[in-house]
Amino acid sequence: MIPHVVIGTMRWGSRGKDLSVDQSSELLKSCYDENLVKFDLVNISGDHTTENLFGAALEKSGINRNTIKISTKCGIVYSGTNHKTKTYDTSKTHIITSVNNSLKNLKTDYIDVLFIHKQDYLMNLDQLETTLTELKLSGKVRHFGTCDFSAYAFKVLYHKIPLITNQTKFSLFYPKALFDNTLLQSIHYHKKTQIYTPLGDYFINKKEINAQLQNELVSMSEKYNATLDQILLAWTLKVPYKITPILGSTSIERIKEQIKAFSIDLSVEDWYKLLEISRGQPVD
Ligand SMILES: NC(=O)c1ccc[n+]([C@@H]2O[C@H](COP(=O)([O-])OP(=O)(O)OC[C@H]3O[C@@H](n4cnc5c(N)ncnc54)[C@H](OP(=O)(O)O)[C@@H]3O)[C@@H](O)[C@H]2O)c1
Repeated sequence: MIPHVVIGTMRWGSRGKDLSVDQSSELLKSCYDENLVKFDLVNISGDHTTENLFGAALEKSGINRNTIKISTKCGIVYSGTNHKTKTYDTSKTHIITSVNNSLKNLKTDYIDVLFIHKQDYLMNLDQLETTLTELKLSGKVRHFGTCDFSAYAFKVLYHKIPLITNQTKFSLFYPKALFDNTLLQSIHYHKKTQIYTPLGDYFINKKEINAQLQNELVSMSEKYNATLDQILLAWTLKVPYKITPILGSTSIERIKEQIKAFSIDLSVEDWYKLLEISRGQPVD
């Protein structure tokens, strides 16, 4: 059975694990051998270098490009030499240029899913519709998605152009999507929500969490005979909406273990207990 996960590559390159092309290629092949064939890229990752790393790794791996799915993003412009201010940009010029760069970096002639990376407050919906339609007709992009769009913004854009998912930040440490309908909305559209950073940066920079939560996570890991990362994932997977976690580990062994979280069923009380301790207050 193919696990319903996407492999995140954000931490593969510089500012992450700084994997070499050889290491990335090995990781890609290991994922592929496990039937993990959906890879999520972020065009700006690793100071705009991770797409290039992935493209080189794919080429080296010898894997047939048509047997994997590649998603990437557009729409964020960092401040730098040309721009003094970080902006969102969903203009035709930006999107077309960004897609062409991604295709070149990834050494492919099509992107499976192009995500509009953030909800651009200056988004011109008609222009966006025209741009995305043009990209689809040209064959450069097969499907579109959004990231971190509000439920309402997703609905508005969806009426213009089919979207496959709204990639959303969601974890025990960042449960906002539970309360603002971005997860619930996926039911209406019969879509899966891809969730990113499902471990909530728990393992990054020795994230400080309160002692009570730490103790509870340890006690749940004993109770369910699971690792802490499996418990954190199982917590996200308990929601009755269709969730596809994007796993950001660079270790195939960890990824394989994390997938086992799909078979951990936290009790309703345990799920609410973790939410309560994480938020510092019970539900109303
Ligand atoms: N749309 C957006 O705006 C957006 C934003 C952020 C991310 N994303 C996507 O989501 C993907 C996943 O995000 P994420 O990387 O934050 O995911 P994550 O799976 O929550 O975190 C992965 C990180 O946790 C570490 N980790 C996992 N299990 C561990 C363990 N048991 N012990 C120690 N360290 C452990 C990994 O280290 P190891 O590599 O050593 O295992 C890695 O550094 C990204 O790659 C990207 O594709 C999208």
